[in-house]
Amino acid sequence: MTDATINKDQYTVRKQPFYQPQGNEVALYEAAYRSRLPVMVKGPTGCGKSRFIEYMAWTLGKPLITVACNEDMTASDLVGRYLLEAGGTRWLDGPLTTAARIGAICYLDEVVEARQDTTVVIHPLTDHRRTLPLDKKGELVEARPDFQRVISFIPVYQSLMKDLKQSTKQRFTAFEFDYPEPGLEAKILAEETGLEAGLAASLVKIGQAARNPKGHGLDEGISTRLLVYAATLIKDGVAAADACRMALVRPITDDADIRETLDHAIDALFA
Ligand SMILES: Nc1ncnc2c1ncn2[C@@H]1O[C@H](COP(=O)(O)OP(=O)(O)OP(=O)(O)O)[C@@H](O)[C@H]1O
Ligand SMILES: [Mg+2]
Repeated sequence: MTDATINKDQYTVRKQPFYQPQGNEVALYEAAYRSRLPVMVKGPTGCGKSRFIEYMAWTLGKPLITVACNEDMTASDLVGRYLLEAGGTRWLDGPLTTAARIGAICYLDEVVEARQDTTVVIHPLTDHRRTLPLDKKGELVEARPDFQRVISFIPVYQSLMKDLKQSTKQRFTAFEFDYPEPGLEAKILAEETGLEAGLAASLVKIGQAARNPKGHGLDEGISTRLLVYAATLIKDGVAAADACRMALVRPITDDADIRETLDHAIDALFA
């Protein structure tokens, strides 16, 4: 397959995504992109990592190819494979190969989920070589100048079993994200859903209550994503307390005591 046969358009981010910066990350990403340095985005679930990358792809006007990683993924899923067909075999590029060929930003989401022998196939693309050997096909793909590699990972998942090798980590620059501070988070809820500012601020308070102090028996706090869900339900006419129970409390815990504590906080705010 040559780049002429790949429909690059399908990977274009068409509409400007709404992204609320938390600091100077946009300028820093632009700097990394200018030198095509690989980027890693770290941070808890639902804090804006994917949205940021989408926004950067749109800003830079580059196609974006996202791959959701999982433990069953093999190197062939990334690179490509021969398919058996009636008339013989046909090579099909994997998403990583396509990204290198068309010069896309290739975003490997939750890369720790992938096995280490899978992750190493990205190495030659992330250092000065910027090439991808297709061993089975006997081809060496040279990445187009626009190609850039991005990975995400959620540090809380990290354990000895699930971590990236140092030799992988040290091929990336990194951004560490966290949930936005309350003022910004309320602004995000209002912008995303059209919810009025006062209610958005109340939702953020519940998010804060579940995040601070950290722990409380919860593995993860309430993410910005879940707050957006709650805001969406309220905007659609669902009573605030019901929306909060459904979007903020029930998904994150099965522990009766924690539920009760959070439910009380909700009733206190919306009674
Ligand atoms: N800075 C932000 N600007 C705009 N929207 C945001 C921002 N942060 C979070 N959001 C909202 O939160 C939702 C979840 O964000 P996103 O999908 O980027 O999370 P993530 O960090 O990639 O999570 P995961 O690790 O679970 O994939 C977005 O769809 C968006 O509505
Ligand atoms: Mg994501």
